[in-house]
Amino acid sequence: MSQNVGPSAPQAEIAAIVGAAHVLHDPEVTRSYRLDARGLFLGDAACVVRPGSTAETAQVVALCAARGWPVVPQGGNTGMVGGGVPMGGAQTVILSTERLRTIRSVDPDEMVAVVDAGVTLADLQRAAEAEGCHFPLSLGSQESCRIGGNISTNAGGIHVLRYGNTRDLVLGLEVVLPDGRIWNGLRRLRKDNTGYALRHLFIGAEGTLGVVTAAALKLFARPGEIGTAFVALPDPATAVALMRGLRQRLGESLTAFELIPRIALDFGIRYIGPIREPFARPYPWHVLVDVTLPEAAARLEQALAEMVEPLGLLDAVIAQSEGQRTALWHLREIGAGGHQHRAGAIIKHDISVPIGKVPTMIARGTARVTAELPGTRVVAFGHLGDGNLHYNLVQPEGHDPSDFRGRTGAMNRIIHDLVVELGGSISAEHGIGLLKRDELGHYADPVELDLMRRIKDAIDPAGLMNPGKILPPA
Ligand code: FAD
Ligand code: MLT
Ligand code: ZN
Repeated sequence: MSQNVGPSAPQAEIAAIVGAAHVLHDPEVTRSYRLDARGLFLGDAACVVRPGSTAETAQVVALCAARGWPVVPQGGNTGMVGGGVPMGGAQTVILSTERLRTIRSVDPDEMVAVVDAGVTLADLQRAAEAEGCHFPLSLGSQESCRIGGNISTNAGGIHVLRYGNTRDLVLGLEVVLPDGRIWNGLRRLRKDNTGYALRHLFIGAEGTLGVVTAAALKLFARPGEIGTAFVALPDPATAVALMRGLRQRLGESLTAFELIPRIALDFGIRYIGPIREPFARPYPWHVLVDVTLPEAAARLEQALAEMVEPLGLLDAVIAQSEGQRTALWHLREIGAGGHQHRAGAIIKHDISVPIGKVPTMIARGTARVTAELPGTRVVAFGHLGDGNLHYNLVQPEGHDPSDFRGRTGAMNRIIHDLVVELGGSISAEHGIGLLKRDELGHYADPVELDLMRRIKDAIDPAGLMNPGKILPPA
């Protein structure tokens, strides 16, 4: 599908700014930047540029603005919605932050880290840890995704219920605007009411308003003792009741609450390999719980024991060592969506509903998609503590994969209509990008869409910053 161009004006002129070694244009080499993580979209680009500083980034963007070349910011390219794929035509410049890797400061008094946008999430976590602090954002992709990408997608992950999502962790930003000016909003203040909080425009903007080059981020005290349990349940309603019961007994100590259905474990076992299962027999639903408080394991055990009978919990295991904790979290990893495509065609959704509506979302959604196509396998897993489910539909066994893929629009409509019916969101944490752009057009309030378009026009009047993403064509 994609034909990259040979040597052309963009790469020659850009090389004069960053050096030829930092401009890639061989189509084979740039392919991994032009293809999204899920392999859904492959775009064209003249080159990939890897500036080494904010100043170089600004010069590159200013040049692109002057020449009319579209710019696509990119971090670790782990995004799930095609947001980093170039869609602006053959003159497009992919601007990778992979050389912006300086950890500028980690201050344990202020509890603030200031880092370049290309620092990986895992490197930031380690840098915070080295100073006795904690950066709580945690995603399966953390060794590859970069802070600029996390900010631009407003990433969620497993600790949102305790620490909020990325938006809640950002104090200030440095951004190269579409015209090449640098906005230095790198404030590190907890209180600052000086007009519009501009940083929030760039958080979750998926690269459509500028290139984030650095961020000031909140740090936290290192969590103390963590207690981890894997609990077997008859149904999702019991999971919701369990969360309420844990909150009532252990206060705000819940730091993770993840839902894992049996079918997700079965796919993991089939495609990743055998695991040591915590229970002697299979159960239909599980939650993985982390609590952070003194005597965590003992208090978690006590709380669960009190709820076994009244809630009808089926079984539970509590980690007694770091090794056992890691083994229980491995169940969450193998239950995640990365390998489910090996069972055939898959249609993914990333939705949220009010937590009390999660059981209805699962039951009603399953009934509707199986009425549409009997045998469709629903794998609804994820961040139950935030009402966020990865609502994956896997084709019926033996079904023609291309027929199933052809039903994507119809299945999206069934799931997203139900989400809206229940007061939820069609994108909880992965963003809109290219994949959900038309869905946003279908569901968004026209006033909201109009405001978004006006913001885009105000900041990027030429429409050169990551064109074709988030906003459906007018
Ligand atoms: P990219 O994929 O490179 O880019 C994503 C978007 O941000 C694009 O639109 C791009 O243009 C823009 N962008 C990137 N960098 C910048 C910048 N510096 N300035 C402006 N725009 C920029 N996501 C979750 O929210 N929760 C999860 O639990 C989660 N788990 C995951 C697990 C796996 C195994 C994988 C593969 C992905 C997962 N993700 C999850 C999705 C993904 O990792 C996140 O969306 C992440 O925040 C993307 O970061 P990135 O650096 O890879 O960004
Ligand atoms: C997760 O929570 O595991 C992710 O967001 C990735 C996925 O949807 O598979
Ligand atoms: Zn997730």
